[in-house]
Amino acid sequence: MRYHAIDNSLYIHNRANFVKHLKPKSLAVFNSNDMMPTNADGLMPFRQNNDLLYLSGVDQEESILVIFPEATNPKHREILFVKETSELIAIWEGEKLDKTAATKQSGIQTIYWLTDFEQVFHTLAIEAERIYLNQNEHLRASAIVQTCDDRFRIDCKAKYPDHEYERLAPIMNVLRPIKSQLEIDTMQHACDITEKGFRRILEFVKPGVMEYEIEAEFSHEFLRNRSRGFAYTPIIASGYNACVLHYIENNMECKAGDVILMDVGSEYANYASDMTRCVPVSGRFTDRQKEVYNAVLRVMKGATSMLVPGTDHEEYHAEVGKMMESELLGLGLLDKTAIANQDPLNPAYKKYFMHGTSHHIGLDVHDIENRATPFVEGMVLTVEPGIYIPSENLGIRLENDVMITKDGQHDLMRNIPLEAEEIEDLMNS
Ligand code: GLY
Ligand code: MN
Ligand code: MN
Repeated sequence: MRYHAIDNSLYIHNRANFVKHLKPKSLAVFNSNDMMPTNADGLMPFRQNNDLLYLSGVDQEESILVIFPEATNPKHREILFVKETSELIAIWEGEKLDKTAATKQSGIQTIYWLTDFEQVFHTLAIEAERIYLNQNEHLRASAIVQTCDDRFRIDCKAKYPDHEYERLAPIMNVLRPIKSQLEIDTMQHACDITEKGFRRILEFVKPGVMEYEIEAEFSHEFLRNRSRGFAYTPIIASGYNACVLHYIENNMECKAGDVILMDVGSEYANYASDMTRCVPVSGRFTDRQKEVYNAVLRVMKGATSMLVPGTDHEEYHAEVGKMMESELLGLGLLDKTAIANQDPLNPAYKKYFMHGTSHHIGLDVHDIENRATPFVEGMVLTVEPGIYIPSENLGIRLENDVMITKDGQHDLMRNIPLEAEEIEDLMNS
């Protein structure tokens, strides 16, 4: 691991919260993610299953976590199975977890080699009445690839057809959105690395640079700070490209007079940060660009102030829509007739602001969530309004990551330059 390990008290605390949600006589199983192939003998970089990570801290392939709070053998109430390491593996792949290191990382006392799984699981399964299985139930998940959890579900149900089965996802959707202090510290660290990247490019941008050169500057700064790199595919979009919401080619030249929209965040210890900033290629915004920039900034500040315990998700988005409507009127992009005649299901502002304002963030950039409950202390959400005007070759989006506190917010990106004048000053200093 490139990052400094998170203290195992996080995982001990997370498991203690998790077991409170299980029905009696239940066994829960979490599988690690697979190593995904590319071609020939190539593999993609490993990315752990976030639920397994959340409950164990184990960032290694071929690992299984079993939790069975009422197991008669106390040693079997929490078990971690990891792949048996060897001198041969150490020579070819490097250090892997041995049993002592696995306990240190997770706080779990019972560590078995993966080869013991089938036999141990059988003894637990016949003692349990119900089995909780995991599945990616993210609202927008569209994965067609079978995961290790998916394969396990098929095998387990075939082998134990008469057990009761339950879903883990609804429990994880309640637990993971509320971050504890160690998670906030880690997310703050990811945001701080992103800040370093942004300050670096403020000195780098000038007419003629290529978008991918800016991407490379961010990447350099992230990697030298123990990040594995971008938390998601970065968007470096100059001029008109900023109006293409998922522009990721990043292959155009940045031209004098244009604005560059950069939606970029580092990951640290598997936690994501997600920032968007817009900067003028020539170091100064035009009056019109600044007018649009400040309109987006006002909506961002207004939206942020609504991130308090008790706010309802849908009402929040509707309120932000009204703020945006008023700004678009001020900018002359909408008129009163368009608003009077608008379809409430597809309001007029959506012509210029067509995406959501906020999403949860954590181990996933678009973190799992439970929209049925209002905001509560400890949630971290992005705030990311935008105005996109293709006819002016201009797209402005501003995005910070904000934690909800007992009586307000704590902005994890409060130190990243945001005001238009501050950005201009830094680019011209
Ligand atoms: N970077 C992805 C997003 O802003 O949601
Ligand atoms: Mn975002
Ligand atoms: Mn973003």
